Amino acid sequence: MKLFLDTGSLKDIEALVPLGIVDGVTTNPSLMAKESGDPRQIIKRICTLVQGPVSAEVLETSADGMIREGRELAALDEHVVIKLPFGKEGLKACRALAAEKIPVNMTLIFSPTQALLAAKVGAAYVSPFIGRLDDIATEGMNLIEEIVDIFQNFGFTTEVLVASVRHPVHVVQAARLGADVCTCPPAVVESMFKHPLTDIGLERFLKDWEKAQAAKA
Ligand code: E4P
Repeated sequence: MKLFLDTGSLKDIEALVPLGIVDGVTTNPSLMAKESGDPRQIIKRICTLVQGPVSAEVLETSADGMIREGRELAALDEHVVIKLPFGKEGLKACRALAAEKIPVNMTLIFSPTQALLAAKVGAAYVSPFIGRLDDIATEGMNLIEEIVDIFQNFGFTTEVLVASVRHPVHVVQAARLGADVCTCPPAVVESMFKHPLTDIGLERFLKDWEKAQAAKA
């Protein structure tokens, strides 16, 4: 399963990319609004750092506007993926951009039917929002299971990108269900490294070694 960072923070991306675990980045207007500087320059810098798919979301809401903005964003770097909000206008824009070989990530997916429609118009990715479903007492991971099943049944090449991830259990569930990508806030990635027994284990190894060296001296 590919691991993407869900952030617009260059600092967080710079810290995690050298570890070799980051396959791509997703951004959205809420995340970009937290950053200072020109959003398009930030997207370009993220592409340079990551050298993998970087989702940049349009702000336009009409199909024509989304197509125009999508083309502009795609021209920033070969790694840019155009994030379009799900809806009739988004589907029209997706079909047009996909025909120009511009990859689209269809976002704000909350049902299997929405995912199916996005796949039919050639989306490269669908982004089902798991955490926001959990927030309204609906099991978000059921949606991932349904979409993975449907895409497998018909051989869609659209990738299932698990979004709105809140904790490492979501990552494990996404991987077990065979999702293609899981996009995580940097804090969730940080939590994936941690296990108290790893820290205790290392401390013990080093102490035992030191004790043995002292006894030999
Ligand atoms: C997806 O690509 C979105 O950027 C993101 O995962 C939304 O997550 P949120 O529900 O935490 O805002």
